[in-house]
Amino acid sequence: MYKIIDGKKVASEIKKEIAGEVVKLKTAGKKVPHLAAILVGNNGSSETYVANKVKDCEEVGFESTLIRFRSEITEAALLEKIEELNNNPAIDGFIVQLPLPAHISENKVIEAIDPRKDADGFHPVNIGKMVIGLPGYLPATPYGIIELIKRYGIETSGKNCVVIGRSNIVGRPLSILLSQKGMDATVTVVHSRTKNIKDIVRQADIIIAAIGSPAFVTNDMVKNGAVVIDVGTTRVISHETKSGFKLVGDVDFESVAPKCSYITPVPGGVGPMTRVSLLRNTLIAARKD
Ligand code: GUN
Repeated sequence: MYKIIDGKKVASEIKKEIAGEVVKLKTAGKKVPHLAAILVGNNGSSETYVANKVKDCEEVGFESTLIRFRSEITEAALLEKIEELNNNPAIDGFIVQLPLPAHISENKVIEAIDPRKDADGFHPVNIGKMVIGLPGYLPATPYGIIELIKRYGIETSGKNCVVIGRSNIVGRPLSILLSQKGMDATVTVVHSRTKNIKDIVRQADIIIAAIGSPAFVTNDMVKNGAVVIDVGTTRVISHETKSGFKLVGDVDFESVAPKCSYITPVPGGVGPMTRVSLLRNTLIAARKD
């Protein structure tokens, strides 16, 4: 029988740990961590993510600031706001929610963030530090997945790990972290141009699906006893929920789960861990003052 990797439960434990750290900071007369989030436009998924991030801050006792702009904002005006946050000592860390409208360069925006305040861990300086194993801010989703794997005591050393997807914010950084000393997995990254994806995924002891394609991973791609981590969160219309939407993963859970040793659900698997990683990065940033 497969076991569910309960990201919601683990995230809630970590939030309690962080809340305890906030109390300690307050007791020591220090300022509480302050996370800011910039949201451009009104992309439905981004609205939900950012609202949840603000809620998380309240839960652990952080201060938070939400800065909203209409999708018409110019790149220059957004970069100016980023510079202001870089120089504002009240803000310990901040994020710019992605995706951004097409007329704004995401790379330029990410590079404009002070690496010391880069709570998402997306800045090239932090990515570079991650690659060579120096302390810095780790990208939130990979950081959360590594923490889930550790807290569930899942063995990665010498295991065949297949990462499906090569995005800058999930697949690529995760592939690097899993192959590092301490995790010691043998990592293969597959993507849209890979030949024989099914055959490669079938060899995996650990499968990480991060492509945003609903039910991409099917029963015939999974070997018995595999660990399956589903990073997909595609929003689809649903008549079953109050909101009229539901989140679906990259894994066909019903058919795949019976073959697994461990599997993450969507929602309630990786998502809550991403949010908690952001809090951890903000706490680290606040301690640096
Ligand atoms: N869009 C999807 N995931 C993320 C994330 O982790 N951070 C930001 N800033 N935008 C995202």
